[in-house]
Amino acid sequence: MAGLCRTCRVPQWSLLRAESPFEPSPEWCPIFSLTIETTRLRMRPFRESDLENLARLYADPDVLRYIGDGSVQNRADTWREIALFLGHMQLRGYATLAVELRETGQFVGECGPWFPEGWPMLEVGWLIDPRFQGQGIATEAGRAALDWCFRSLGAERVCSLIHPENGPSIRVAQKLGARVDRRLDDLNGAPADVWVHLPAASAV
Ligand SMILES: CC(C)(COP(=O)(O)OP(=O)(O)OC[C@H]1O[C@@H](n2cnc3c(N)ncnc32)[C@H](O)[C@@H]1OP(=O)(O)O)[C@@H](O)C(=O)NCCC(=O)NCCS
Repeated sequence: MAGLCRTCRVPQWSLLRAESPFEPSPEWCPIFSLTIETTRLRMRPFRESDLENLARLYADPDVLRYIGDGSVQNRADTWREIALFLGHMQLRGYATLAVELRETGQFVGECGPWFPEGWPMLEVGWLIDPRFQGQGIATEAGRAALDWCFRSLGAERVCSLIHPENGPSIRVAQKLGARVDRRLDDLNGAPADVWVHLPAASAV
């Protein structure tokens, strides 16, 4: 067996097995020990085995209508997005997480903090599989992500960047106690309102 990665202990040979998804464990990389649990949900770092589920969501124009310029993504783009989430986690210590149902392990979407270079502010975003929308899942996951930001990451303000016509997402931000601060005319090709969360407002 080849050596282990010096920073995250991933065996180097796993990099050669691109044909089968690599299932990481916390022993190999501490990042994968991160788990946030709520009443119904488990939030955890993305894994390669999430590709099918995430690619299905990213191929759906209804799901991506108000994200960036609304373009759908193919399977390869989605794989890169997962790599981006994990790279963001390595660089910043936090990132958008996969959201699954605690009871069944069913993948239902993504939610979590996001702050790449050039982004206006630390953001918490949410995206839920249409089959599971309307059950309060984004609100439950969003509240847990905000709690992580305020209590563990030491954030004083967090935003959600939301297209002005994205009614369901605006409603989630409102339920979490956020207030509109200003409008950005062009965020990756579309307007976005900056909804600001403060610690007390998002608490249960
Ligand atoms: C936004 C999104 C994550 C919400 O997920 P969800 O799990 O259904 O959210 P919740 O169930 O917690 O809350 C949704 C709220 O929006 C309301 N809603 C649904 N459709 C709506 C509409 N067209 N206009 C206004 N509110 C609407 C629901 O009634 C609910 O509010 P309520 O609890 O007061 O009844 C989901 O719609 C989604 O994934 N959209 C596509 C991706 C996206 O746009 N993400 C946000 C990017 S900023």
